[in-house]
Amino acid sequence: MASMEGRQEGTPFRDRLVENTVSIYHVGREKLYELERDPSKVVRVETFEDLLKRYGESRDLADLVELAATARRAFEEFGDVYGVEVPVSLVVGKDPKDRDAIYAVTDKIEGVNLDAAPPAEFKERAEALYEMLARYHADKWASGEPFLVDVDRLSQYVYGRPYGASESEPEKVYLVDTDIKVLEGTGFVYRVLPHFAQQLVQVERHYGVRFERAREIIERLLQEPVPEGFTEKGRAQIAALVAETRQVLA
Ligand SMILES: Nc1ncnc2c1ncn2[C@@H]1O[C@H](COP(=O)(O)OP(=O)(O)OP(=O)(O)O)[C@@H](O)[C@H]1O
Ligand SMILES: [Mg+2]
Repeated sequence: MASMEGRQEGTPFRDRLVENTVSIYHVGREKLYELERDPSKVVRVETFEDLLKRYGESRDLADLVELAATARRAFEEFGDVYGVEVPVSLVVGKDPKDRDAIYAVTDKIEGVNLDAAPPAEFKERAEALYEMLARYHADKWASGEPFLVDVDRLSQYVYGRPYGASESEPEKVYLVDTDIKVLEGTGFVYRVLPHFAQQLVQVERHYGVRFERAREIIERLLQEPVPEGFTEKGRAQIAALVAETRQVLA
């Protein structure tokens, strides 16, 4: 493991951050780390600066601490209400270059990434996951509450158990991609629907079945009248997003 000596000064950890072992794609990208003496965690760091760029247009989420609290609640809810645990703690602190950042410290899950899981064995779990995601989007559309964006790809889920857990602990599906991507408002739900639909279709192809229940939930959502309060331009954008989503699912 390449150690990053001399660059740990300001971080909230006593342990040294070292290169991650879970994703070759991330090696050297200054985003995913592990702790030198605790192999049970994956540490993700996102600078305030990057987060501000991401949230440029939704000003109320701009405050870093508030954003971390909102994300923490959204991750908790994903497990408590929607049944897919997100084993993460969020810590606000300095990154190795002394920039303000949010750390997402996630349990390392050992098992099989759903992206690489054998279809015959994992079809039902994948179907249940996409039905849950459809329900998640429909609920957030109705409530306007903050929701996790970018949780619709199979590669973000690992089936297994936390590093070091005993064999008696049941294996389950965990969300391991703990990027701080949370938005709120019905308009944003419309915005993510085409991408969700694309993923759904791709996963259906991978598994060779149609996820009818997930489709029904989305279809019902697309038929709902657009809530009050959008401008003419907003309604036109929503109509285009609905049409795009329908086209993807056709
Ligand atoms: N806590 C974890 N336990 C096990 N594996 C993990 C964990 N975190 C990340 N991984 C692995 O690393 C891969 C990349 O991580 P992740 O998808 O979170 O990265 P990302 O930067 O958010 O990528 P993307 O751009 O795809 O969103 C995951 O697909 C998973 O295989
Ligand atoms: Mg991600």
